[in-house]
Amino acid sequence: MILKLRRPDDFHVHLRDGEMLRQVAQYTASQFARALVMPNVPPIDTGPQAERLRNEILQHVSPASFTPLMTIRLTEKSMPETIHEAKRCGVVAAKVYPQGVTTGSHGGLTIDQLQQMGAVFAAMQDVGMILCWHGEFPGPGWLQAEQRMLPEIRKVVDDFPRLRQVLEHISTREGVEWVRRCPDMVAGTITVHHLFLTLDDLGGRGKFGRGGMLQPHYFYAPIAKDDSDRQALAEAAIEPSGKFFLGTDSAPHPIDRKFNVDAGCCAAGVFSAPVAMAALASKFEELNALDRLEGFTSAHGARFYGLPLNEGSIVLEKQAWVVPETVAGMVPFLAGEELSWRVAGIDNV
Ligand code: DOR
Ligand code: ZN
Repeated sequence: MILKLRRPDDFHVHLRDGEMLRQVAQYTASQFARALVMPNVPPIDTGPQAERLRNEILQHVSPASFTPLMTIRLTEKSMPETIHEAKRCGVVAAKVYPQGVTTGSHGGLTIDQLQQMGAVFAAMQDVGMILCWHGEFPGPGWLQAEQRMLPEIRKVVDDFPRLRQVLEHISTREGVEWVRRCPDMVAGTITVHHLFLTLDDLGGRGKFGRGGMLQPHYFYAPIAKDDSDRQALAEAAIEPSGKFFLGTDSAPHPIDRKFNVDAGCCAAGVFSAPVAMAALASKFEELNALDRLEGFTSAHGARFYGLPLNEGSIVLEKQAWVVPETVAGMVPFLAGEELSWRVAGIDNV
C-alpha cells in the first residue's frame, strides 16, 4: 500500500549548528519542505543572528527543496525594535522559554519578566510575527508545569487578540482542551514522541519500556505524561479543526550528553527526525485515521502560519522496518522498534 501526501512541514525542530547541524539537517530536509528552526541552541536572539544560522543551514540542504523558517528567542533584552529588525530579516516567529525549564533556557524569561513584555508582544502583533510558547511554568511542580503556565499565556491571548500564538509540544489533556477553548488565533503543536510514549515508557515499564530501566532517550521536555494525556493528544492530532499540527521537536544531543557517567546528568531531547513521517503514518493507521495525516502534517500548520501549501509530495509505503540503533552517531527515537510504514521518497514538482 502506498500513501502519497502533500509535502509536510515541521513547525518545531532543533537543527543546532556546526558539526551537529551538518549531521542532522538531511533527516529533516529529506521529508519536510519547511521547518521552523528553534532558537535555543545556538541562542538566536536577533534577526541578524537568525540570518547567519539560516545561511549555515542552507549549506547543508538543497535550497530548492527545503526552506528553513527562522525564529528568535525573547529575552529580557528584547525590545520592539528587536522585533522590527527580525521581521526585516525574515524571522517568522519569536519564542518564549520560561527560565530554566529545558535545554538552553538559562537566558529565558522569569514570570515577572514575561509580564514586562507588553511592548514586544504589541510589536509582534503589529508586524504579524507569531508567538511560540514553551508552555511550562518555571520552578518546582514538574508534572503540573504545563497546566500552571496556561493562565499566564491566556493573559497574553486576552491582551493581544490579533497576535497568533502557538502552545508548543502540548503534553497534557488540559493543554489540548485549553487550545480548543482559545480563540482561533491560538493553535498547538504536537510531537511524534508525545503521541507514542507515557511516563511509564521513560521509567522502563511501559509498552516501549525495557525491563524497568530508565530510558534516557525517552527523556524530553515537557516530560511524557499519562495515557489519558496521550489519548487526548491523539484525538487532537486527528481532528480536522486546523488548531493542531505537527511540530516534531526533534532535538538531537551527542551521546555523551544523554549518558554522561561523570556528570551523572542526561540532557532532555529526542532525535525523532529520522523516523518522523514513518512513525506518524504507523500511528495514524493504528488510530484508523490515515486520511487525517495530511491535514496534520501538510495543511493546518501552513494555514495557521499564513504560508502557501507546499507543492510536491512525500510517498509513504506500508512496509515493516526496524529503526536502527544509531543514526549519525546518535540514538534515534524508537531505536530498535518496528514501524509498519516507511518513507519511499519525495516527488518535487
Ligand atoms: O526535550 C527538549 N529538548 N525540549 C526542549 O524544549 C528543548 C529541546 C532541546 O533543545 O534539546
Ligand atoms: Zn523544542
